[in-house]
Amino acid sequence: MSTKLNLVLIFGGKSGEHAVSLMSARSVLNALDSEKYQVFQVGITREGRWTYAANALEVFENKHGESLNEAFILARNETPYLYELIDGQLREVTQIDIVFPVLHGTFGEDGTIQGLFEIQNCAYVGAGVLASSVAMDKALCKDVVANAGIPVLPYGIFSRQQIENDLPAVIEAVEGISAYPVFVKPANLGSSVGITKAKNRSQLQDSLRLAARYDRRILVERGIEAREIEISVLGNEDVVVSVPGEIVPGDEFYTYKDKYHSGDPETAIPAPLPEPVSEQLRTWAVQTFRAIDGAGLARVDFLLDKNSGKAWFNEINTMPGFTQISMYSKLLAYSGLNYRQLIDQLIELGLERKADQARTLRKFEVDDEQ
Ligand SMILES: Nc1ncnc2c1ncn2[C@@H]1O[C@H](COP(=O)(O)OP(=O)(O)OP(=O)(O)O)[C@@H](O)[C@H]1O
Ligand SMILES: [Mg+2]
Repeated sequence: MSTKLNLVLIFGGKSGEHAVSLMSARSVLNALDSEKYQVFQVGITREGRWTYAANALEVFENKHGESLNEAFILARNETPYLYELIDGQLREVTQIDIVFPVLHGTFGEDGTIQGLFEIQNCAYVGAGVLASSVAMDKALCKDVVANAGIPVLPYGIFSRQQIENDLPAVIEAVEGISAYPVFVKPANLGSSVGITKAKNRSQLQDSLRLAARYDRRILVERGIEAREIEISVLGNEDVVVSVPGEIVPGDEFYTYKDKYHSGDPETAIPAPLPEPVSEQLRTWAVQTFRAIDGAGLARVDFLLDKNSGKAWFNEINTMPGFTQISMYSKLLAYSGLNYRQLIDQLIELGLERKADQARTLRKFEVDDEQ
């Protein structure tokens, strides 16, 4: 019998970050130790169809994912299996030891697919349902992190309905929260999609309307001239926290284009920061991770006011860009953990979390007499 772990690598997905996911997955696949893991490739199409093939990643990279057989993860007698559908019949591909969902954004990083893994009793890499969904909602996440005592920029949360029905009231409320410029962000999207900086009232109107096309909930917050500092966290109960790194954006702010199309933005590892600031941010990164009940990995992003030097939490990503040259991996590499070791650790952490969950008492008798 093989002693290798049966690992299902999942990539693609319905989110706007489908292409980014394929890049991350390619890096992970290349680094997975074939002595330790038997890898099964599952691609999710842009329409949300799950597919399987031995070389699914390559097929997805060539944009032919649609042609592959449909795939399913289903538990039988509490053991999860991967199946593929051939001529209307389910064929068992493998029993699953762990799933590595290299998916970013909606339906991948937001707790929905994590819920499916939980229901199918399947171990998986990364954060659970709660942390994933809290981190995905920029608005709710600010509430949670602020409540943990970590500074966040003044913000307000508005609904699409408010924006559509009473724009003047929303504008008045925003102007009560902060002077211009403000940042307007759909609560649930990543990769800077639908985010704009509004420098005056008329731009704010346009920004709110734009953001409302992307989400029902819109976050508006004070805009500052900021340095962007990112920190990697790795672990479950005990965590490793990296040195801070800095992104030097090429554009006015760190846009989607900047992230994925114009080559690498310049980075500085470690970020040139006074030691006490660096230590403060590292402490906040761990506190943020714990506040949302993080597990496995997360990248915690801060904004540092260029004028006052004050630092603010910006966001936490539970499945950050994950190629070998992504900030997440590079920060940990600086701390001496190479990419292959990082992947091994993430898999171990996923298995450890599953084992820990199994210790939780779920059945209890209700005493009728009480
Ligand atoms: N309040 C702010 N003041 C100044 N700059 C900001 C502010 N909020 C966001 N930015 C700039 O806009 C960029 C995008 O915003 P943010 O990081 O909140 O969303 P995102 O990048 O879409 O999320 P994700 O990192 O999950 O893809 C930031 O990297 C930063 O450059
Ligand atoms: Mg960001």
